[in-house]
Amino acid sequence: MKATWILPDGREITAEVKEGLNLMEAAVANNIPNVIGECGGNLSCATCHVYVSDDWSDRTGPAGDFEDPMLDVAEAERRPTSRLSCQLKMSPALDGIVLIVPQP
Ligand code: FES
Repeated sequence: MKATWILPDGREITAEVKEGLNLMEAAVANNIPNVIGECGGNLSCATCHVYVSDDWSDRTGPAGDFEDPMLDVAEAERRPTSRLSCQLKMSPALDGIVLIVPQP
């Protein structure tokens, strides 16, 4: 399965992501800049914040109850498609997902 990250400078990086891996782990494994994952996916850092591209936001759905308040403290501005990528697990439904990396 694949995921693509669009960087603030417009570059796109596409990588293979195994089913079940979360998209913060996948970003770190592929050296995606500005996706840090400081807390290791425990919903306590918001350094894995990304914007889900409009075409995909229906499939990821909204942020969960614990994720939602963390998005308010993310460094980059919150948008309607903001998600913490540690909470997005690769699955057949998300194969091909496109994520936009916020400006640092
Ligand atoms: S990695 Fe810390 S909230 Fe996602």
